[in-house]
Amino acid sequence: MTTLLTVDGLAVRYAGSRRPSISNISLQLAEGEVLGVVGESGSGKTTLGLSLLSLLPAGAEMSGSILFDGQQIVGAPERAVRPLRGTRLSTIVQNPATALNPSFSIGSQMTALLRRHKKISRADAHTLAIDWLARVGIGEPENRMRSYAHQLSGGMNQRVVIAMALALSPRLVIADEPTSALDVTVQAAILGLLKDLIADSGSSMLLITHDLGVVAQMCDSVAVMKDGAMTESGPVRQIFHSPQTAYTRQLLAAQPSHAASSPAALQNEVVR
Ligand SMILES: Nc1ncnc2c1ncn2[C@@H]1O[C@H](COP(=O)(O)OP(=O)(O)O)[C@@H](O)[C@H]1O
Ligand SMILES: [Mg+2]
Repeated sequence: MTTLLTVDGLAVRYAGSRRPSISNISLQLAEGEVLGVVGESGSGKTTLGLSLLSLLPAGAEMSGSILFDGQQIVGAPERAVRPLRGTRLSTIVQNPATALNPSFSIGSQMTALLRRHKKISRADAHTLAIDWLARVGIGEPENRMRSYAHQLSGGMNQRVVIAMALALSPRLVIADEPTSALDVTVQAAILGLLKDLIADSGSSMLLITHDLGVVAQMCDSVAVMKDGAMTESGPVRQIFHSPQTAYTRQLLAAQPSHAASSPAALQNEVVR
């Protein structure tokens, strides 16, 4: 399989921090692969995701190497990275309200995105946007084009964000806790949708989550983070069946969504 992303010795230090928030991070992602990044709150997952997108706050220092689709991200000027974002590299954030503009209708945001990157007419962009709303399971998509984010539920908005993240056929999607801000009753449906669309598109995904149940459902491989370091990584089955570190064993045992079940039950879920 072709390697799409190679991270080597990545470290990030935020402005004003004495020590790096993540360090010595190395990973590879193949085309079409879904990699889960798990770890407790504060372990550095979001920092890793923002590094890959080159969206760290001003003053943060990155060192090491991030080679994405032939382009070096570390040290690259904004003008080199900006054209990648939204096109070859896209993101789905935790809270869809922060990703959508409250002042513009869903339809105008989608058609603007499509027209900015594809040479298509306004009418074709409109049709394509409606197609995408239908693909992400939004009913009456023609009417919804005129809706504003505040008129839709969190789950509906996240479906719109997913449509916008995938509409330009990115090579890599970085999804940071994409369902954590949503009602539990819609989380599974949104994850199922995301899994199907990613598989259809052939895109790779880096899926950040604190939930190993989500990893079991969604991912081919998994990387475990603790205190800014990557403690363990490998195929999901391998990590779930023979975790090498005490920390991974703890995570497996402490899985909240499986509180009633044992780590063994979670492992069986992976075997399917
Ligand atoms: N903008 C920032 N400035 C300074 N420190 C930060 C900033 N964002 C995150 N950190 C620190 O970096 C570490 C990793 O945070 P984060 O990447 O958000 O972890 P996670 O996503 O796993 O919860 C934490 O210690 C956090 O306090
Ligand atoms: Mg985070």
